[in-house]
Amino acid sequence: MVNSVIYATKKGSAEIYAKAFAQKKNYPIYEHKQVLSEDLIDAEKIYYFASVYAGSLLGIEELKKKVPKNSQLTILPVGLSSANDHEKLAEIREGIVKVFPQAKIIHLRGRLNKEQLKLPEKLIIKMISKSSRKKSEQEKLDIEKAIEQVDTTGSVDYLDLAELVNID
Ligand SMILES: Cc1cc2nc3c(=O)[nH]c(=O)nc-3n(C[C@H](O)[C@H](O)[C@H](O)COP(=O)(O)O)c2cc1C
Repeated sequence: MVNSVIYATKKGSAEIYAKAFAQKKNYPIYEHKQVLSEDLIDAEKIYYFASVYAGSLLGIEELKKKVPKNSQLTILPVGLSSANDHEKLAEIREGIVKVFPQAKIIHLRGRLNKEQLKLPEKLIIKMISKSSRKKSEQEKLDIEKAIEQVDTTGSVDYLDLAELVNID
């Protein structure tokens, strides 16, 4: 039995977490589009690091087709929501539980750089930032503060590899 790490990313932060974790534990690592169900056949535990876009976890439907039914799955969504953004995290968890009711879920915070964004993404960031600026500081979610910062300064970075220490 071997444990395996899989990652799904658009801009690289989920990959950084996944690679650091796989290296520390000496587990094989796969990009989600490249992993085959045969690669996972002997996996006891599977760790899936994937970024969150518009409340949804990247690649989750495809993963369902590849993960053996008896494996223990830990899903690590990487997003800009913080532990204080309860509703946002609940939305992400709901989407995951629908597909993998048995999965353990551990939220991680990522990063975002305006230069990496495609035009439609830039427009979404602008729109969220604009509506966030109309709110008082107390009303703002941490993800909204982060997105405002991306809009005004160009980037945010909450990536913290120390968060991986307690994952087993
Ligand atoms: C268009 C867009 C939508 C996003 N939606 C969410 C979201 O719903 N929840 C969240 O926590 N983070 C959201 N983010 C932030 C990303 O999840 C975050 O930047 C993450 O680190 C990206 O991971 P990646 O670098 O692996 O692609 C969004 C970012 C963009 C550009």
